[in-house]
Amino acid sequence: MTQQQTGGDVRLTGISKTYGSFAAVKPLDLTVPQGSFFALLGASGCGKTTTLRMIAGLEEATTGTVSLGGQDITGLPPYKRPVNTVFQSYALFPHLDISENVAFGLRRRGIRSVKKQVDEMLELVQLGDFAKRKPHQLSGGQQQRVAVARALINHPQVLLLDEPLGALDLKLRRQMQLELKRIQTEVGITFIHVTHDQEEAMTMADTVAVMNGGRVEQLGAPADLYENPRTTFVANFLGTSNLIEGEVVSADTDIVVAAGGGKLRLPTDRCTAPTVNGGKLLLGVRPEKISLAHADDADVIADGRNRVTGRIVDSSFIGVSTQYVVESPAGKALQVYEQNIERDARLTPGAEVVLHWNPAHTFGLDAAQDIDAGVETVEDAA
Ligand SMILES: Nc1ncnc2c1ncn2[C@@H]1O[C@H](COP(=O)(O)OP(=O)(O)O)[C@@H](O)[C@H]1O
Ligand SMILES: [Mg+2]
Repeated sequence: MTQQQTGGDVRLTGISKTYGSFAAVKPLDLTVPQGSFFALLGASGCGKTTTLRMIAGLEEATTGTVSLGGQDITGLPPYKRPVNTVFQSYALFPHLDISENVAFGLRRRGIRSVKKQVDEMLELVQLGDFAKRKPHQLSGGQQQRVAVARALINHPQVLLLDEPLGALDLKLRRQMQLELKRIQTEVGITFIHVTHDQEEAMTMADTVAVMNGGRVEQLGAPADLYENPRTTFVANFLGTSNLIEGEVVSADTDIVVAAGGGKLRLPTDRCTAPTVNGGKLLLGVRPEKISLAHADDADVIADGRNRVTGRIVDSSFIGVSTQYVVESPAGKALQVYEQNIERDARLTPGAEVVLHWNPAHTFGLDAAQDIDAGVETVEDAA
């Protein structure tokens, strides 16, 4: 492929990393289009940092190549790659003021007149008034913006960000997500952002690669990954999914599945698993796609909707929505999110209910997988 066709894309080909007999990253192929905001998303230990470090040249790949704009850079040392990294620990120089921190890369290259570029960078990250402060006089979010400015002043073709917002509290993290997105749009260079936070990845990135156990499990635009997960891991790790096990009764334009004593439907083209009559299938539906009716109102539910009867075992009022947990023959803890528009006072724990949803909002997965893969446990969250 010529350089013209690849532009400045980052391309990983068969890249892997083993430590002794442990495969931290299994051979993977990945193309990150030039100018995109790309996220590597996965739980702690899945190989995100190792992948990023191989792109930066900070880690030697066991197999495979890294290329940028069609040029193989696998053998180049980090300082010869047109790539900069921003880490979670901002790694600012405590004794230098903000402008000198930002100027660092230019000074190192022997550039003397740095003021114009430094001012531009501080403007870009909206820290123009802070030039003479020391890092410890800034908040965490401001320090992280200095780290971004310090990396961008070197005009890298690719900026690598390794959990850059991990040390910030939730509200500041949200602000910084939008801020980083704005900066990326403004400078137009490729950002590869590593995070274990699925909301962060979905908010910021054009494309998300979901990693699991040293592999990319699925790659796509956030909405596509969310609506069309291909594995139970992606279905559970990205948001919440209700997964219902059933047996295929028939498969035509719709697949009909027997589950929990009833029948449920899904469009054939939303099923990624092979279907055989009598074979097992996992049906998935997102909590916000389900409506909840009190059992007394069951006869007013429109025909053609998927239905599951059950009993509310828990409800939490979240403000914009109420989240219900429903026990049913189809699943022990089905999750339903209802927007708080007109709340039905009868929908409290103990109430008999009918869950109903449009069959088009159902996806089908291979039942041979672990139904709980990617479910966050209390231990993971710590
Ligand atoms: N230098 C090393 N020696 C041995 N194992 C390592 C080393 N660096 C990372 N690992 C292991 O490789 C796996 C992936 O690590 P890492 O890429 O840091 O994951 P992540 O960034 O997704 O949390 C982890 O199981 C980690 O313990
Ligand atoms: Mg990491």
